[in-house]
Amino acid sequence: MPSYWCGAVVGTDADGDLSLDSMSLAPLSAASASPAETSEAPLAVEPLATPVTTRGVAVKRLYKTWGKRVAVHPMDLEMAPGQVTGLLGANGAGKTTTISMLTGLIPPTSGTATIDGLSIRTQMRAIRLSLGVCTQLNTIFGPLTPVQHLELYGRLKGLSGTRLATAIEQLLTYVMLQEKRLTAACNLSGGQKRKLCLAISLIGNARTVFLDEPTSGMDPHSRRSIWALLREQREGRTIVLTTHFLDEAEILSDRIAIMAEGRLRCLGSPLFLKDYFGTGYSLSLTKQPSAAPSAAPPSTRRRCLSGHAPSCPRQRSLTRRASRRPCACPATTCSRSSASSQTSSRSSARLV
Ligand SMILES: Nc1ncnc2c1ncn2[C@@H]1O[C@H](COP(=O)(O)OP(=O)(O)OP(=O)(O)O)[C@@H](O)[C@H]1O
Ligand SMILES: [Mg+2]
Repeated sequence: MPSYWCGAVVGTDADGDLSLDSMSLAPLSAASASPAETSEAPLAVEPLATPVTTRGVAVKRLYKTWGKRVAVHPMDLEMAPGQVTGLLGANGAGKTTTISMLTGLIPPTSGTATIDGLSIRTQMRAIRLSLGVCTQLNTIFGPLTPVQHLELYGRLKGLSGTRLATAIEQLLTYVMLQEKRLTAACNLSGGQKRKLCLAISLIGNARTVFLDEPTSGMDPHSRRSIWALLREQREGRTIVLTTHFLDEAEILSDRIAIMAEGRLRCLGSPLFLKDYFGTGYSLSLTKQPSAAPSAAPPSTRRRCLSGHAPSCPRQRSLTRRASRRPCACPATTCSRSSASSQTSSRSSARLV
């Protein structure tokens, strides 16, 4: 396994495809042999006003399988400079796998991406000079103190002297670790370790920063401080953030990408997504076979709706769709939407 910071550059073959000779990947399964067949267009995408070219992250048909399992279906995604892009999705949706490919931790099965115009397939070494990563699992050295970590990573990023000392002091203050500055990392609490990982990812003015659940395990006060820090730090950086806190995603993200089962399902600003997916409720009506052939009268629908979702606006259109969760109404059933739209329903409900 090549070293993360100094490992071999992934090459391309004569066709320009990713060369996997040096990578120990399982052979592609039948399911993974034709990514086009398994791709599915996202439900909604709000395009960027200015397409990503020389700055920012542009993902092009990025695809990853683990043996027979497809972790990330061919994905296209653009993350703009100066913005925080929130990457959301349930456990196992493929967020960490996507970030791992973009940061060179694992090779894609196919597809590529550019970061500030540099290809992750051929120019990862150059990309790393301006890359900051806070991995989902803490990557810290137990015996080293926070100051020693920041010194080490700061020097790797080319800082020295007073610039390094100033950066260390600023970051320790930002993440509220001044009191623990000389404590061995193994003796930090879970939340303090996350703070240290976050500080490491920001040192050296990294232009592209990937943060995989940076605030997991942090107390509410710390989370809010980190929000303030990230809002301040987004200037001039491309920040990609995964989180399971929807309030955090909405507050921090300029754009939100939602993944489900390895697929990008929607992408846009919080406002766009709320507007597109509504306020978070959808009503499904299913007629029982024994019911009269005519549709349920509007008064019945309204009664059913107000009984189940009193705060739901009246003007929502009532669509005919199969229901999965029957309720007690005699001629109708009322439920939350089906599995795929449940994610968006939940998201948009919490994003309000
Ligand atoms: N090293 C691995 N070997 C085999 N399968 C893997 C490996 N890493 C991840 N997977 C699978 O890839 C899929 C996506 O995992 P991933 O870690 O990207 O999800 P995630 O969206 O980050 O989830 P979480 O919110 O729990 O962090 C999962 O089904 C997982 O089981
Ligand atoms: Mg993850």
